[in-house]
Amino acid sequence: MASQPKVPDHVPAHCVGAFNLYKSPEMRPTPFGDPFAAVAKLLDGPAVFYAPETTRDGQGAWIVTTAEEQRNVLQDGASYSSYRRIFSSAIGEDWPVIPLELDPPEHGKYRSMLNPLLSPKRVAALEPFVTAKAVELIEGLKARGTSAEVMTEFAFPLAVSVFLAFLGIPDDRLMEFVGWANELLHMGPAERTAAAHKVLNFLEGMIAQRKEEPADDFMTFLVQAQVEGRPLTDQEIRSIAVLLFIGGLDTVATAIGLDLYFLARNPDRQQELRDNPAILPSAVEEMLRAFPSVTPIRTATRDMDLGGCPIKKGDLVSCPSMASSRDPAEFPDPNTIDFNREDNRHTAFSYGPHRCLGSHLARREIIIALNEWFARIPPFRIKEGTAPVTFGGFVFGVENLVIDWS
Ligand code: HEM
Repeated sequence: MASQPKVPDHVPAHCVGAFNLYKSPEMRPTPFGDPFAAVAKLLDGPAVFYAPETTRDGQGAWIVTTAEEQRNVLQDGASYSSYRRIFSSAIGEDWPVIPLELDPPEHGKYRSMLNPLLSPKRVAALEPFVTAKAVELIEGLKARGTSAEVMTEFAFPLAVSVFLAFLGIPDDRLMEFVGWANELLHMGPAERTAAAHKVLNFLEGMIAQRKEEPADDFMTFLVQAQVEGRPLTDQEIRSIAVLLFIGGLDTVATAIGLDLYFLARNPDRQQELRDNPAILPSAVEEMLRAFPSVTPIRTATRDMDLGGCPIKKGDLVSCPSMASSRDPAEFPDPNTIDFNREDNRHTAFSYGPHRCLGSHLARREIIIALNEWFARIPPFRIKEGTAPVTFGGFVFGVENLVIDWS
């Protein structure tokens, strides 16, 4: 008989619920699935409950469903720590990715140094590159036929290219980086470890090079940056660069993929955008709200009450944005995707001190990708005989997304 997952002694029975970010049926790879709807259903239950097994490695965590309670967690960096080792643990080391795995006040020192780097002005300077790359990729797809697997042939290469441009790395290494990103984010432990080493080796080479030959790019900014009146150490530089690699690739590619997945299955919604292209930015916001991909996770630093549940120091607390973004208390008619929704303060980029640093860039990448797509691709659908597969996890996603515009 399978053993029951262990519930810690301090968790009362009425606080225990069933939800596994990786293994609940709707979270497993599912043809034509909708893991977002499954998470939104959690809002029919309590604002906070304990799921005995929910992380990738089978740990239990408190799940916070409502926007209000998620804000209480995510805005309180003193009571809920971001201490984790998502990257360095894969290579048997122990250092934080910066600034994501640091807590205030340490976090703020790095965050204020990094904020200008991804400001709307800096992002605007990258836009011509993003546009040219999107056009090149879409024209490439069209030259090859009337259907394409858009995650590997469009969304991922676009996101990786932008990252490379940002870092100042030539585009000729694009497919090598796409491979590393895929191994790091989607493969088993052995591939993840190998890919983590490759990424680090590469970044270390670049740090050395930019110290010798400064250029006008992100890596040069980092090697010249100061924190508390001293230059960053090589370790700090690589842990910042690693975070941009893991933070900005999967998320952007996934958002583009999920939008195309939705639009491919809803020709009337494509038409709405074709009839009124000016609503694209607000449509992108609405799709970010309806299909946000990330679940921020924290560790309680003290015993406390949250939503009537006893949280104990050391407990994991997770805040799926796909629940809070469908909270009816904040979003009228939350399961309707309304491209003209007003006052759309969705939670895709989280709340509080760790709110996404790359949100301006992410928005621009998604808008440009869809804008160029609509300008070049006629009405499109899921290719007959194929089935896109959705999956849950720390970052939700879709794969095998074969789109046909014949
Ligand atoms: C649609 C795309 C994106 C989504 C949905 C997204 C989502 C998020 C979320 C939810 C967080 C907070 C995590 C937490 O609190 O634990 C976050 C943080 C972060 N994101 Fe994004 N992100 C996206 C794109 C990007 C891009 C393009 C970049 C960089 C180029 C980026 C860089 C970062 C960084 C550096 C942090 C850490 C901020 C801090 O700790 O202060 N993200 N992102």
